[in-house]
Amino acid sequence: MLLHQEIIVRVAAEVKAQFSSEGSGHDWFHIYRVWMNAKHIGATEEADMFVVELAALLHDIADWKFHSGDEAIGPARARELLIGQAVAADVIDQVAEIIATMSYKGAGVPTPMATIEGKIVQDADRLDALGAIGIARTFAYGGHKGRLLYDPDRKPEMHVSKEAYFKTDAPTINHFYEKLLLLKDRMNTAEAKRMAEGRHRFMETYLEQFFGEWQGNI
Ligand code: ADP
Ligand code: NI
Repeated sequence: MLLHQEIIVRVAAEVKAQFSSEGSGHDWFHIYRVWMNAKHIGATEEADMFVVELAALLHDIADWKFHSGDEAIGPARARELLIGQAVAADVIDQVAEIIATMSYKGAGVPTPMATIEGKIVQDADRLDALGAIGIARTFAYGGHKGRLLYDPDRKPEMHVSKEAYFKTDAPTINHFYEKLLLLKDRMNTAEAKRMAEGRHRFMETYLEQFFGEWQGNI
């Protein structure tokens, strides 16, 4: 049997190869940062880091947002890839379960994680939606979708279903209110909460500057 570390290196190489040409903010380097965040948070918790690292590496392998809302495709692709690396069935089950449940689906849609491994990976992913990188990714996504930066007439919405959240074509600034600024209070682990605080403050400062410039006040 291969050592866990060897499998992780092989999975990382395969994911990197598959993601090398993504342009919506869901690229290899997002995966890489989530993997690093997950290792960092994992060091502060008692968790099975083999499961954590594999789930971090595979969490966006097939995002439902880019597959017409199909939520089964991500876990299925992850399974195939892990079977190809001869990973034990119980580990594959845990990784697939995390990937199936971790994604944000709207302000009013709860997404609780059943295990500490899942909590760590969800936090790691959400941290990459915050702060300087979070702002950059959000505008990259909005540009990819051809959205306006901001429209004062479009108010943010607290989506109560995954379908409504998925359908929105709101300007990019709305996403801060519909997701990013809500994440700080939804972190699972103490270390992610601590990291989210600083990233949250940075986004608040950014928005203050944005609206000041919008009115020609700054
Ligand atoms: P998660 O991995 O938490 O499920 P998503 O994959 O839904 O997050 O989104 C990842 C990132 O893509 C968000 O943090 C944001 O930067 C960007 N994004 C997603 N939806 C939108 C949107 N409607 N408007 C702007 N950016 C978005
Ligand atoms: Ni992600």
